Amino acid sequence: MTHDSRPVFAANWKMFKGPRATREFLDEFLVRYQPAVDRRVVFFPPSISVEAFLFAASARPDITVGVQDVHAEGEGAHTGAISASMAVEAGASWSLAGHSERRREFGDDDALVARKVRQILQSGLAPIVCVGETLEEREAGDLTGVLARQVGAVLAAVETAGHADLTWAYEPVWAIGTGRTASPDDAAEAHQIVRSAIATRAGDVTAEQAAILYGGSVKPNNIDSLMEAPGVNGVLVGGASLHAGDFAAICGCRLG
Ligand code: 13P
Repeated sequence: MTHDSRPVFAANWKMFKGPRATREFLDEFLVRYQPAVDRRVVFFPPSISVEAFLFAASARPDITVGVQDVHAEGEGAHTGAISASMAVEAGASWSLAGHSERRREFGDDDALVARKVRQILQSGLAPIVCVGETLEEREAGDLTGVLARQVGAVLAAVETAGHADLTWAYEPVWAIGTGRTASPDDAAEAHQIVRSAIATRAGDVTAEQAAILYGGSVKPNNIDSLMEAPGVNGVLVGGASLHAGDFAAICGCRLG
């Protein structure tokens, strides 16, 4: 894959917006956000809304779509799950893996996240691997240990050739949906830790080029300062991405 260094503005809709709400959102968003060549915009709707999304956004190739999770197997008797290759067939080009809500609610541990990332890469989707510490882990002084473990587990399981195809998202669990954002300094520090963990296993060049997004209560009023933080290569937005005006303002932010 050729390296694309443009910042990423990603929307994780979680379990919000079926096909109709997806169309309504796009009616407004596509007017408010005009294509810009210096950035990438990616949406992660619920998988049941992917086709409606792509149909409604078919005139906008600057916007790409992904799924929020895939099964670690290629196919099989796994009621309720979707595979990475099905996501490709439906028109997705990305997949999240390891979101903290998956880790907490569905038991996606480091080993399972690593297997999912392998499936995602094999199918040709671009993975965004989410890592981040809980408040307890941070307060116990374990920030570096947790991030190094989460990053290392994925890199150890993925062939070297795939290391450069990984995009990362640092999402401190205490900042997700809480309105409490990491300060730009906190984000810069954590991104440096993630980058060092990547360097340990994947080498300095891959680490330097890796896109690391920040996620956790990103809003129109803090996007500029977060994007100015060293080592922040984009954002993964939950709540604010559900509102067309807010997410258009985030995607349209000024860049360096
Ligand atoms: P919020 O923006 O709602 O805090 O969610 C962040 C997130 O989990 C994105 O994946």
